[in-house]
Amino acid sequence: MKKITIAVDGYSAGGKSTMAKDLAKEIGYVYIDSGAMYRAVTLYCLQHGLLKNEKIDEEGLKAALANNAVRITFHANAATGCPDTFLNETNVENAIRGMEVADHASAVAALGFVRHAMVAAQQAMGREKGVVMDGRDIGTVVFPDAELKIFVTASPEVRARRRFNELTAKGIAASYEEVLTNVRKRDHVDSTREESPLRQAADALILDNSELSPAEQKEWLLARVREAVVR
Ligand code: CDP
Repeated sequence: MKKITIAVDGYSAGGKSTMAKDLAKEIGYVYIDSGAMYRAVTLYCLQHGLLKNEKIDEEGLKAALANNAVRITFHANAATGCPDTFLNETNVENAIRGMEVADHASAVAALGFVRHAMVAAQQAMGREKGVVMDGRDIGTVVFPDAELKIFVTASPEVRARRRFNELTAKGIAASYEEVLTNVRKRDHVDSTREESPLRQAADALILDNSELSPAEQKEWLLARVREAVVR
């Protein structure tokens, strides 16, 4: 069957990753979490003193990226069946999910030179098609020619509740209020930044999953994939 590119974009904590991961598994595609790459760059900044008092050392980060000191790769985790994120050959899948990284990720992702480097890496990973990539600018900037583009939305409260439950289940400390504040802040930064702001591609299909069960959502998605493959 013809392989296509599937772009999934939307606001923070909208369930994009779970949905995209699940879809990729179901149809035998490679799943790429572009947000994990921005989170990994943020973790690198925190680990190397490039992010202090809410200020990013842009020159330091630029040099690190230019010197290939921030190597981000994905490797399949046999237990979960999903790719784990590696930063300089260390598994950082859990380290990038905490609130400290989440709090700074949008600011790091707003830097043009960071986006430039990540977008180039993402395009290289998707060259062979057969990928599901999720993020904020996948259908608009990374793969403007993707055969299927989905834009996921849900209310900030629904998204914060889901993320809070997810973090709690993983044993990562956070309060619902803190998560809701973070979701709102990232919505704002992501939609108002100058470099590739979060917006729906003109040819994207909207999926409001506030009221959908995971099973209903999956059924909807598989139907859209079937349509896109024969198109
Ligand atoms: O899963 P969640 O919605 O919490 O966010 P994420 O996908 O892990 O992305 C972390 C941060 O990276 C977001 O808050 C965005 O600011 C940024 N991001 C981006 O700018 N462009 C992307 N393609 C993906 C993420």
